[in-house]
Amino acid sequence: MEILSVKTEPYSDQTLGTSGLRRKVSVVKQPHYLENFIQSVFDSLDNFEGKTLVIGGDGRYYNDTAIQALIKIAIANQFGRIIVGQNGILSTPATSHVIVKYKAIGGFILSASHNPGGPDADFGIKFDTEHGAPAPQDMTEKFTLRTREIDHFWWADIPDVNLSVIGEQTFGSTIVQVIDSVKDYADYMQEIFDFKRLKKMFQQGFTMTFDAMNAVTGPYAVRIFEELLGAKAGSVVHAKPLPDFGGLHPEPNLTYAKELVNRMSEDSAPDFGAASDGDGDRYMILGKSFPVNPSDSLAILAEYLDTIPFYQGKLKGVARSMPTSFAVDDVAKKKGLALYETPTGWKFFGNLLNAGKIALCGEESFGGGSSHLQEKDGIWAVLCWLSILEKTGKSVSELVHELWNQYGRVYTLLCNYDIADKKAAEAVISNLKEKLPHLVGQSVKDREITKAFVFAYTDPVTKEVTENQGICLYFEDTTRLIFRLSGTSSVGATLKVYINERITDEKKLNGEPFVVLSDLMQISMELSELKHLTGIQKPSIMT
Ligand code: G1P
Ligand code: ZN
Repeated sequence: MEILSVKTEPYSDQTLGTSGLRRKVSVVKQPHYLENFIQSVFDSLDNFEGKTLVIGGDGRYYNDTAIQALIKIAIANQFGRIIVGQNGILSTPATSHVIVKYKAIGGFILSASHNPGGPDADFGIKFDTEHGAPAPQDMTEKFTLRTREIDHFWWADIPDVNLSVIGEQTFGSTIVQVIDSVKDYADYMQEIFDFKRLKKMFQQGFTMTFDAMNAVTGPYAVRIFEELLGAKAGSVVHAKPLPDFGGLHPEPNLTYAKELVNRMSEDSAPDFGAASDGDGDRYMILGKSFPVNPSDSLAILAEYLDTIPFYQGKLKGVARSMPTSFAVDDVAKKKGLALYETPTGWKFFGNLLNAGKIALCGEESFGGGSSHLQEKDGIWAVLCWLSILEKTGKSVSELVHELWNQYGRVYTLLCNYDIADKKAAEAVISNLKEKLPHLVGQSVKDREITKAFVFAYTDPVTKEVTENQGICLYFEDTTRLIFRLSGTSSVGATLKVYINERITDEKKLNGEPFVVLSDLMQISMELSELKHLTGIQKPSIMT
């Protein structure tokens, strides 16, 4: 086997975003684009020779080419062992678990998460640390800096490695080990949840539909729900991971998982519906004609998590991202749990989890996770819900109504405004910032603003301060508006306006968020002077 040193020129656009390097396939296909990035990551790591590296992906278009390049560069850089999911498939949470289980120094995940796949769509690659956690900011900054100066990469001159057969192959001093994509993860889930009890529930006639959206969770869901728990064959739909997700947009929400939403409103709907995203870290839960809001779902998990044996005595605190509704806060208060409010982005939960301050965390964007691993985890969240349904014997909508009856319902609405001119979007935020000192005490449409501030976060573990994480306006303690710019949009800017209102009047618990919150939406448009500053009249998406 020959190891080549290949000359290359740096690309200037390899700055990492919220979730690694996410680009159009056409960009990634440029000569040496991927090779430069991979070698830059290796150049930024210390002492990896002879150690283990994990590679996983969601099966999307171009992953096969990228994985072969990764393996050849990793061999040339003298890793001792490279663990790859069969056919390159490993969900994001499964990769995280495999990294920790096999004591790897880290791993690559090839996925653009919930973004569409295919030759004209998106590709992504990110690095997880030895803890199975997304690389922290200081590490990704190193990667980016290195991409600016790279002048060669190492390459093992070998034919493509066969990834379809489980087992080991040796190349020089490196072993490439192809593993069953599902087994380790499925074994771990059986340590966390009581599969015997869940199996019994299915035997007694419980029914579910899980929509894997032609993305990575298909094989996991078939093994866990159908084969291990006995849900009837066909309970998992769109179960085969496809390079273009069969044209589906693999984002589990009411718009993109329309087929599941429709199925759940039929007379013959199953007891329980769920879906996951491209790489298996997000989740959506539905009862019969009853989609569950992700912020409410987090509150319900907080209420019942300690009924799952794995968490007994471990639930001391919970964390939610700032824009996630305050539904979980009431549960935390009642149960005497510490509550942490973090900036948007999964990486902010890592230190809290590592320090044992929290055992549960979640985001309004359909992400949920716990101390079991350091990525968010869609199938885990579904198993939590199944366990709670089994334990309580209640339906999805009964559980959510109980929550609302006890604490009030926190209505939520997210308005996304796509703004082509990034400067105009930034002007909306800076204009609001300037107004902040004068807003407290003002009344808008008979609602008094009681708090107005820019959200900043001091990490309770490292004391690191993260500023400028969005603008928060409170009207009493029950209502709030948040304005922030998305950190994941690839063109222009997306202004996100989150609207929350807690309503306790029993007669008003079953309203439609768009209707209940319409005057607050009006207020948010007026206060932000959106039309004046950007010319935009209405949201691009409302959810
Ligand atoms: C979005 C979500 C956020 C999530 C992130 C990465 O970020 O809102 O909760 O952590 O994607 O999946 P945003 O575009 O709002 O910056
Ligand atoms: Zn994802």
